Amino acid sequence: MQTIYQGISHLGEALEGASKILLVCDSSFPFLNIKDDIERMTVPYTVFDQFTPNPLYEDVCKGVECFQNAHCDTILAVGGGSSLDVAKCIKLYCKMAKDKLYLDQECADTGVRLIAIPTTAGTGSESTRYAVIYHEGKKQSVTHESIIPDVAILEPKVLKTLPLYQKKCTMMDAFCQGIESWWSVNSTDASRKLSKEAVETVMRWWREYIFENTDASAEAVMHAANLAGQAICITQTTAPHAFSYKITSMYQMPHGHAVAVGLPVIWEYMVDHLDRCIDARGAAYLAGVFHEIAQAMGCDNPIDAIEKFRRMMADMDLKQPVAVDRDAELDILSNSVNPVRLKNNPVELSNNVIKILYDYILF
Ligand SMILES: NC(=O)c1ccc[n+]([C@@H]2O[C@H](COP(=O)([O-])OP(=O)(O)OC[C@H]3O[C@@H](n4cnc5c(N)ncnc54)[C@H](O)[C@@H]3O)[C@@H](O)[C@H]2O)c1
Repeated sequence: MQTIYQGISHLGEALEGASKILLVCDSSFPFLNIKDDIERMTVPYTVFDQFTPNPLYEDVCKGVECFQNAHCDTILAVGGGSSLDVAKCIKLYCKMAKDKLYLDQECADTGVRLIAIPTTAGTGSESTRYAVIYHEGKKQSVTHESIIPDVAILEPKVLKTLPLYQKKCTMMDAFCQGIESWWSVNSTDASRKLSKEAVETVMRWWREYIFENTDASAEAVMHAANLAGQAICITQTTAPHAFSYKITSMYQMPHGHAVAVGLPVIWEYMVDHLDRCIDARGAAYLAGVFHEIAQAMGCDNPIDAIEKFRRMMADMDLKQPVAVDRDAELDILSNSVNPVRLKNNPVELSNNVIKILYDYILF
């Protein structure tokens, strides 16, 4: 069971029992306002920061070496989803055979203690069993129960230094995770409760968070992102996430932005095609879920909610990706969608439909 602490003052408690720490952080670390709290920790540590956003498998391998060479027993991950996911993979791979691809080996709990401090709000990665890395240009979804961090420390003041565009993108990732987990075919009573609170909280606070940068809104959005992460950990993501990965790599669009450009297009299609519902609970159930999501967004019906989502994107100036060679790009995009993710989507999307939806997503 994960422990979630509110505030960086709990770092000491979180580190109890550690004898050598691998601090996994990225190039934003020197600018974080929690840097001093972390550098003051009494347990010796080695820094690993040799990776990029949307991290590569090769980066993780270097991290595994660093962990082993420094004889660490604990990992402290500080950063956005990229840093947290690198740390999760280091934990999972650090006891595997070195002569084979880690991705092909059977996963087991290594028992390494993992503490996560998210600095974006966010992916919710601090509370999920997933990590996303890229190998030979392809996205790899690493999933294992043991990579849910033992401890997550939520410190909203860290969001003060997050650049405005990153704030918009990461908040939209959290918002989309809240919505997607709500309509996922894997949703449960518990996950829908988490989704509802996440969606309502983002709706209540997003303007203040983005345009006024207040402490209260940062605290609320960080909480919402974590709830959405917990929900997604139960349900997995759905079509908007599946559509997003190629958008990110083709148009260099950050993850949250890439997810958010697809969500209203896909939602609109699903509202119009409830007859293609694949959720075992049926089309009437799904219509009810769409209605509840709309209500959580302060709207009377899903069509108004989709419109509100689009206005929110426009108010933040988050634009659609612009096609250059439209037909060729549509082919690449529509072939990229992972059918496994679509199994979680409540409405069936055929190959033909996927291409049409991408056509709407592109400018
Ligand atoms: N594991 C999961 O459950 C999960 C869920 C969703 C997304 N992801 C993955 O997470 C990654 C995206 O993570 P992200 O959106 O958090 O972005 P990120 O970790 O890639 O960070 C984005 C940028 O913001 C900077 N940054 C982060 N926090 C900062 C702060 N407080 N102040 C100043 N700069 C800061 C980073 O240095 C980086 O340049 C993608 O690889 C995505 O696939 C993982």
